[in-house]
This record gives sequence, C-alpha cells and structure tokens, in this order.
Amino acid sequence: MLISSPMNSALNEQVGFEFAASLQYVAIAAHFDSESLPELARYYYRQADEERAHAMRIVKFVVDAGGRAQIPAIAAPHSQFTTTEDAVQKALEGEMKVTQEINALVGQAVRENDHITQNFLQWFVAEQLEEVSSAETLLRIVQRAGEQDLLHVEEYLARHRHPHLSATTRDADADS
Ligand SMILES: [Fe+2]
Ligand SMILES: [Fe+2]
Repeated sequence: MLISSPMNSALNEQVGFEFAASLQYVAIAAHFDSESLPELARYYYRQADEERAHAMRIVKFVVDAGGRAQIPAIAAPHSQFTTTEDAVQKALEGEMKVTQEINALVGQAVRENDHITQNFLQWFVAEQLEEVSSAETLLRIVQRAGEQDLLHVEEYLARHRHPHLSATTRDADADS
C-alpha cells in the first residue's frame, strides 16, 4: 500500500465530502429549477456532476494506491432557501469548506512525507481556486442584479457556459 492507513481514512472521508457537495448542488439546482430559473438550475446540476467526478477521482486514487475505498454516510443537504442570494451564498460557503478540507489533506500528506498523495492533491488545490473564484463571481452578479432582476443572472450564465466546468468533466472522463 502506497498510502498510510490514516491517509486512507482521510481520503475516504473526503470522498464523503465531495458526494455531500454533489448532493448540496442537486438541492440548489432543484430549487432554481422549481423557481423557473433554468440557467441557474443547469449551472448547479453541472456542479453536482462535477463534485461526483471529484469523489470518483479520489476513489480511483485510493484503489490505485492499494488502499481500501469505504464510502461514508452522507448527510442530507440544505434544501430550504429563502432567496436566490441565500442559495448562491450556500454554494460559496460549501466551496470554502471544501477548500479547507483539501488544505488539511495536503497538510497531512506533507507531515507524512507522502509525495504521491501530495502530487495527487495538487489537482484539487487548483480546482478549489477555480471553484471559489467562480462562486464569488456568481454571488456578486446575483447581489448586483437583486431578486427583481434575475433574468440578468440567467443571461450572464447563458453567455458564460463555464469553460472550466466542461474542461474538468473532460479531465475526469479522460482518466476513466
Ligand atoms: Fe469538489
Ligand atoms: Fe467544488
């Protein structure tokens, strides 16, 4: 086995966090879908797919490293949102939390002198920069538009069909 037993457990825990993020995005997407905001819904359904791909990327790494993949129980996501801004804010908070989790994993890999896991995690480090940056941008656009003018947000999302999302989906596909 190329990873320590504590690292194996920490990676399994992260698989759970990525699946939890995926479920949270499904809940946010469904909220927008039922509010008849199709571009916001599409954006978050795709985010949900992307988070699932992150979980699968970690599962594959654990197996490749000779570890044991154990999927933890996943907590129910928030599914009540008061406003559009509230839902978009929850998405940003989720990405900030995942960034801390990834940083903690990298810290553990550094302490264990585990270069294989450190190298694997660098993809996630770069991904979190993209994710937090686009979540912050979307939150600012929603705040600027206000609840009365969400069609501007829909137009923005239709014009920017997130090249980084399709790129990461391609990366994940290429690995499988
Ligand atoms: Fe993720
Ligand atoms: Fe993410």
